[in-house]
Amino acid sequence: MDVQHIILLADSNIQNCSQLKYDIEYALPYTVIESHSGFEALRIALEKKPDLILLDSMLSGINGYDLARQIKISPDIRTARILLMVPENERDKRLEAIESGADEIIMKPVEKTEMIFRVESLIRIKYFYDQLLLEREKIHKMKEEFLSLITHDLKTPLTSIIGNIQILLLNHQSEKDKNSLKTIDLASRNLLFLVNNLLNVMRIDSGNMPLAAENFLFKRLVEEVFSMMQPLAQKKKIVLKFSGENSIMVHGDFEKVRQVLINLISNAIKFSPEEESVEINAKEEEKGVVIQVIDQGSGISETDKQRLFQKFSQRKGEKGGTGLGLYIAKKMIDMHGSEIHVDSKPGQGAAFWFVLQKGKKK
Ligand SMILES: Nc1ncnc2c1ncn2[C@@H]1O[C@H](COP(=O)(O)OP(=O)(O)OP(=O)(O)O)[C@@H](O)[C@H]1O
Ligand SMILES: [Mg+2]
Repeated sequence: MDVQHIILLADSNIQNCSQLKYDIEYALPYTVIESHSGFEALRIALEKKPDLILLDSMLSGINGYDLARQIKISPDIRTARILLMVPENERDKRLEAIESGADEIIMKPVEKTEMIFRVESLIRIKYFYDQLLLEREKIHKMKEEFLSLITHDLKTPLTSIIGNIQILLLNHQSEKDKNSLKTIDLASRNLLFLVNNLLNVMRIDSGNMPLAAENFLFKRLVEEVFSMMQPLAQKKKIVLKFSGENSIMVHGDFEKVRQVLINLISNAIKFSPEEESVEINAKEEEKGVVIQVIDQGSGISETDKQRLFQKFSQRKGEKGGTGLGLYIAKKMIDMHGSEIHVDSKPGQGAAFWFVLQKGKKK
């Protein structure tokens, strides 16, 4: 703790104040600044940002309780520890002292040794608190850097790899080359899928994800999602079907709804046996457009349903994946002011569904 700690002492009784300053500075290696009114104490606190403020409850100008409240709502100094000195005959005001934001109370007349111990312990707490804040800031910075690393150094090249594989696949290749290219394509898509999910979780958790709602043709989104998911479906000979009306318009954030559908379809494919079908349905109802992703796969038990949408939640023994897909889907649908649900019984497939606002027809 080799930092210079500052203590602000606020007591309208000048004699008491200088005695306390003397006692603390004699016993501890801290700098003590005196002040004799509430206003003066607040001014010095804002200027010097002390680690600890020793307040007399009966300060003139602003009393100790009100000053404590003021300090706790001032962004620059609210982390300062507060030790409130309360006279014996105001013992019943201890509750008010705690409610006002004081970290500790000490009875007056102040017992010197007790005061020294309390000051020392509050300074220690403030020191560790500051360290924690610094660590948090560092972690936040690292998270931001990691986020930009994922976006630029992983996502961009991956997208380019996938794009170029499509060009190679279009050119005439031998069957053997085509199969290898398809394997690379699938692996790259899975990697891009994971990168996108990580990126989304970090954005959601840092609150850095505004909603950009627009009116769009739902079928257009389905086509994009199907073309993205086709290689994964083909690998298991699964057919992707759209069973809604082609003209349905939706009002929502295109990118986010796309991510939701990708996550739901990826699950539907993953948890279905080979040669089944996965269906997206969209229906206009009174409350909005009901969108469903339906599969004929393993289904989900009632107990598993409770935890499904939590972060990192997977069924026991689940292999692969991170357990983030449904957490992200739920958060993104929440952002639309809606909810995501699942209807399912074990062994009878699953239908995940949510409602979005109807979009204006163009
Ligand atoms: N359509 C489904 N049928 C059966 N179980 C499902 C279905 N969708 C999700 N689950 C269950 O819910 C769990 C959580 O799904 P979620 O998408 O969040 O994670 P994941 O698919 O395991 O991993 P990730 O999506 O991060 O790759 C899955 O592990 C699975 O147990
Ligand atoms: Mg998933």
